[in-house]
Amino acid sequence: MCGIFGYVGMESAGPIVYRGLETLEYRGYDSAGIALREDGSDTLSVAKRAGEVSALSVPDESASTCAIGHTRWSTHGPPTDANAHPHTDCADSVAVVHNGIVENHEELAEELADHTFTSETDTEVIPHLLEAAFDENASEEPLDGSTSRTDGGSATDGVSSRVATELRRGVESVTDRLEGSYAVAAVHTGADCIVATRQESPLVVGHGEDASYLASDVPALVEHTREVTYLEDGDIAVLQAGEVSIYRDGERVEPTRSTIDWDADAAQKGGYEHYMRKEIHEQPTALRQTLGSRVDVNAGTASLDVDFPKGYLESLEEIQLLAMGTSYYAGQYAATLFESLAGVRATPVMASEYTYTGGRDPWRTLSVAVTQSGETADTLGALREAGAAGARTLGVTNTLGSSVTREADDALFIRAGPEIGVAATKTFASQVSTLALLAIAIGRERGELSAAEARSHLEDLTGLPGAIQQVLDEEARIRETAHEYADSDAFFFVGREYGHPVALEGALKLKEISYDHAEGFAAGELKHGPLALVTDQTPVLAVLTEGSRPQETLNNVAEVQARGAPTIGVTSDDVAASSLTETFDVPDAGIFEPLVANVYFQLFAYHVANAKGRSIDKPRNLAKSVTVE
Ligand code: F6R
Repeated sequence: MCGIFGYVGMESAGPIVYRGLETLEYRGYDSAGIALREDGSDTLSVAKRAGEVSALSVPDESASTCAIGHTRWSTHGPPTDANAHPHTDCADSVAVVHNGIVENHEELAEELADHTFTSETDTEVIPHLLEAAFDENASEEPLDGSTSRTDGGSATDGVSSRVATELRRGVESVTDRLEGSYAVAAVHTGADCIVATRQESPLVVGHGEDASYLASDVPALVEHTREVTYLEDGDIAVLQAGEVSIYRDGERVEPTRSTIDWDADAAQKGGYEHYMRKEIHEQPTALRQTLGSRVDVNAGTASLDVDFPKGYLESLEEIQLLAMGTSYYAGQYAATLFESLAGVRATPVMASEYTYTGGRDPWRTLSVAVTQSGETADTLGALREAGAAGARTLGVTNTLGSSVTREADDALFIRAGPEIGVAATKTFASQVSTLALLAIAIGRERGELSAAEARSHLEDLTGLPGAIQQVLDEEARIRETAHEYADSDAFFFVGREYGHPVALEGALKLKEISYDHAEGFAAGELKHGPLALVTDQTPVLAVLTEGSRPQETLNNVAEVQARGAPTIGVTSDDVAASSLTETFDVPDAGIFEPLVANVYFQLFAYHVANAKGRSIDKPRNLAKSVTVE
């Protein structure tokens, strides 16, 4: 949700920041902008406009080696040129980009009555507050370049380092007054540096040899460096060419470096027209990474790097799965796995609706936040509430260094690799598989699952990459079917048991990228209302595999067939579904067959949307990581 990129180094900053914004565009694509600081000049060049990054022309400022940029998903103020970031102060001496929401912006703007605001955004108060902070300091001690330099450097260097210090202190004091979540980066005409900070919104610093980088997310950094520092809430980072200083509670601290272990190619399209299709095809590889060293099939064990306190799992009474969107459906799949494999009551909860109630014993409740990005505000809010009530918390995420990894008691990584397409695909399979390993581990610990049963489920899990590859090999046929039905009035997806979350996920995928009306239902629910909508123009896609009670679902399929609906079924070998209009088979994968069926639904959605020429990787109104509630 909004992408920030910054560069300070020896090269021309404009093209580097522009490229960074292109890579971060999955976070928001309503408008984009760049502010360049030119050495020795007392103005900033700002280019910004509504529309995608490609609509932006970067000012030709080859002398600029320091710049910040932003790609926006609007919250306050519609996507217009004026509302695009960066925002500047009245004197155009400071430029700011921001991700998040300044909740008290109206109150702060009232204090700035003598400042002229040019946008409808909450962000614009930040540069004006910074300007006010600079003005206050200037009235105490003028910035004339003749002061404060004692190390033999030039007067200009002296001014630059002093302005950098003032900018850092300004950012510190201004952000102290902001309510809400934010990641902020600022540049000033007088200092060759970027000052950045965060509060509940991601920001990562990249360390180069002669350069420093700033980004909302790692994919934008990997083509420059693998050495990164994930900023903590409240950290103030000062980025200079090849040097990063971090201040925490007013004290300078050593940046904690991490090394990114995937290369730049992983975040590129690699010959595919869309990231989404690439990521659908990456599922076998992603799953091998997810399962990898964690599974010992012969021993019937799954080992995960999570240590629960002694006796905790045995006494566990409930697992809550807190998540939104696709991650919620993964949580729903997992809830059934926890109940059947681990013998623990498990409840999926739409995180935005979560309240810790119902007389639960916190010690016996495990609250699991399932979030690809690790940054979803609704999910983090629910996690905090569970933690505050005393429940043990676990974050299941794809993103190293994300907020959930810091806030939960433990973190479990799904290891799917970077996912850039806004519509989640490979991460759904990796989330369910990771949670399945956890269910097996807990089931073994609690004595609910025998070694033989665990072995059988682990065999099915380790067979998933091959089973999914067989589905991917059927892409031509699913494309043909997608094209045949692309112009239908609406699409219904149905399933039971593990097939139910997959039906919901199939409908979500189709609606978000094709903009067609698509709904997922528990198959048994159709006859209680939705059947009224079924005509010969509403194809019904059904999960009819093991783990989805196919025989019962076939009864519901017959009900829609009687109303003339075309039926497209994903079946396993032993399901007699000859009456279906179209049938797609999944290989044997036990209770994970619906997860394999989901890959057909992903390809179906992709090809319907592609036939309509939709913006598949950047669907309208959406963004990859939703950092506002
Ligand atoms: C749908 C999709 C969203 C996300 C949801 C949660 O394709 O991607 O529904 O699943 O916004 O995001 P995370 O998993 O990052 O918490």
